[in-house]
Amino acid sequence: HKTQVGIIGAGPAGLLLSHLLHLQGIDSIILEQQAREAIEGTIKAGVLEYPTVQLLKQLGVGDRMMREGFEHHGIELAFGGKRHRIDLHELTGGKSIMVYPQHEVITDLVAAVLGNGTTIEFGVADVGLHDVDSERPSIRYTRNGEAHEIQCDFIAGCDGFHGPSRQAIPAAVRREHLKTYPCGWFGILCEAPPSSEELIYAQSDRGFVLVSTRTPTVQRMYFQCDPADSVDNWSDDRIWTEFHARTAGSDGWKLKEGRIFQKGIIAMRSFVCETMQHGRLFLAGDSAHIVPPTGAKGLNLAAGDVVLLSGAIADFYRGASREALAGYGASALKRIWRGEHFSWFMTTMLHDFDGEDTITRRFRRAQLDYVVSSRAAAASLAENYVGLPFEGPA
Ligand code: FAD
Ligand code: DHB
Repeated sequence: HKTQVGIIGAGPAGLLLSHLLHLQGIDSIILEQQAREAIEGTIKAGVLEYPTVQLLKQLGVGDRMMREGFEHHGIELAFGGKRHRIDLHELTGGKSIMVYPQHEVITDLVAAVLGNGTTIEFGVADVGLHDVDSERPSIRYTRNGEAHEIQCDFIAGCDGFHGPSRQAIPAAVRREHLKTYPCGWFGILCEAPPSSEELIYAQSDRGFVLVSTRTPTVQRMYFQCDPADSVDNWSDDRIWTEFHARTAGSDGWKLKEGRIFQKGIIAMRSFVCETMQHGRLFLAGDSAHIVPPTGAKGLNLAAGDVVLLSGAIADFYRGASREALAGYGASALKRIWRGEHFSWFMTTMLHDFDGEDTITRRFRRAQLDYVVSSRAAAASLAENYVGLPFEGPA
């Protein structure tokens, strides 16, 4: 096959990029190792920033989100036995966030991309990138045991943290930064009514808890755990006991229990590959950067990347200039580093770590007290949480 842009990965980054390119008259093909049912069913992110919501609406893929998603105007921070509201809407001049699951975003984008007449090859294997530093790069892969090749003008590596695209940039030129946190998140989905109208980020001496939601009957919650722990060590009873111990407040508020139907542990890291392009290969989303989940930034950073990348590729085909393409990484990294810092800030403010000195714990409490008592500090948190505007080309 032949196409203008060969996209590896049908996550939020790859699908959104394909759709953005299509709207600017540029063809793409997407290669995805999983089955369609698998990507449309995997539970991941839940929070969409204000700029992401606006983008999905503008691109004509926001109808179901607007009908079925839940707009939130605030979040709560809980510590020291009390809950404190951060009024996102008021502090940002009217912005909000949307609780709408990532797999539903994926479902809507897959429908839009296929509706554009674009091919998504599901279930591919052995994906390899070739001649990325030439004018004619190609992607080779197998499907049902048969070998295939796609020749393209550009390759977009949207294959997540573990995909092959980043590795196709020679290690000698790749500039990478990594921080691993000594904790993970234990996530559950349960059948229960919401315990709170808004998300609760709770700090406690026993560790962090996030109370999130999906629908009026399904709730999403996480507690900080040992990243090497196993879900098999956690019976439903033990899970609820831990949630209650960490969230018990002085006002009698109590988390509502329900049947747990999904459990999983996620790792926490900050990672940035600053070398986001090499020849005709461009990285976007988790293939180039990972954040710890505490600020809900991952999917939203991927959206910012592909807005820039699609614009730069469109400039190239219009013959306007190659500058946007040459500057893609540098432009994208501004928003990425902001999101990385905010995610680190939220993570260190809300998680206690084993072996910390007592002064670090006092600093944490001082920061929490500041954020809920100073309008300036709360406004800064709110501005980052609802999402800063997407970057334009430098
Ligand atoms: P991915 O979603 O990882 O997509 C990459 C795709 O490439 C996958 O479909 C994969 O199968 C495919 N692929 C990989 N290797 C190959 C290969 N060799 N060949 C072909 N295809 C390949 N973010 C938020 O913004 N808000 C949140 O509230 C939030 N909560 C989260 C909660 C959890 C539990 C987790 C796990 C993540 C959360 N995130 C959140 C992060 C968010 O899910 C990711 O940042 C987002 O999925 C990144 O999108 P992506 O398209 O870059 O990568
Ligand atoms: C969810 C995940 C997050 O990382 C976060 O900060 C908020 C919500 C969620 O899955 O609902």
